[in-house]
Amino acid sequence: MTGLAGQRVFVTAGATGIGATLVRRFTEAGARVAFCDVDADAVAAQTIGTGHVADVTDEAAMAEVFKKVEAELGGVDVVCANAGIGGPAGKIEDISLEDWQATLNVNLTGTFLTTRWAATQMRAQKSGLILLTSSTAGLFGYPFRSPYATAKWGIIGLTKTLAMELGSDGIRVNALCPGSVTGDRMDRVVANEAKARGISEQEIRDSYVVGVSLKTWVTADDIADTALFLASDAGRKISGQAMAIDGHTETLNA
Ligand SMILES: NC(=O)c1ccc[n+]([C@@H]2O[C@H](COP(=O)([O-])OP(=O)(O)OC[C@H]3O[C@@H](n4cnc5c(N)ncnc54)[C@H](O)[C@@H]3O)[C@@H](O)[C@H]2O)c1
Repeated sequence: MTGLAGQRVFVTAGATGIGATLVRRFTEAGARVAFCDVDADAVAAQTIGTGHVADVTDEAAMAEVFKKVEAELGGVDVVCANAGIGGPAGKIEDISLEDWQATLNVNLTGTFLTTRWAATQMRAQKSGLILLTSSTAGLFGYPFRSPYATAKWGIIGLTKTLAMELGSDGIRVNALCPGSVTGDRMDRVVANEAKARGISEQEIRDSYVVGVSLKTWVTADDIADTALFLASDAGRKISGQAMAIDGHTETLNA
């Protein structure tokens, strides 16, 4: 893929998981990459990219990070608003206000703060790509995960809206919609959901591919492949899209 060398990239929640893979893959492609993460130990352990410790929901802490990233990179070409938490699993009657608000706060408010800064930077230079991380849960109803599904549908609304608001300044905005990604996070999600629904973890795991055409989970590298494609010259006319990387989900209700 061409056009990635020398790009200035910022990734939220970049110390582990999908974010760490984005940091690694953009770096391998020749980009200069900075990231933030709330987990100080994980930031210290990450040897690729320039890491900063910050919670994406903390406006003051993120303002500090943005200032440092501007100084380090001299601007930004690609921003991956990747931070998100799975939130609680359970019937709507059992979801606490605290859990509801925490899920919307990280997934939506954190993304708002990050994209607001990205827009300011990119409008000044009249170019850029903003990638927001939604989920297949942003494309379908998702029983027992109402706060997460609500937040991830919100991400797609923000993507469509910002693509329209920023397009005339040469800024592209797309959403990445991963399916079930192998790794620690999904191990935790599966355990929680099994407990909430009173069935085994294996039954939950199997149920995740029943409604998937390719009968597969995906990897963080599958997500990074799409991010790099969108940031490359080949993606230059793609904006306002919610791109599912999921083996084609037919239904989440299987
Ligand atoms: N893993 C999946 O199967 C999957 C599927 C669809 C969508 N997603 C989305 O992809 C994104 C990344 O998911 P993941 O699986 O890598 O997550 P993860 O749970 O593995 O967490 C990755 C990192 O996020 C950091 N983080 C959490 N809250 C933060 C905050 N408030 N501020 C800064 N950093 C924070 C953690 O410290 C961790 O290092 C999320 O938006 C998630 O909703 C994941």
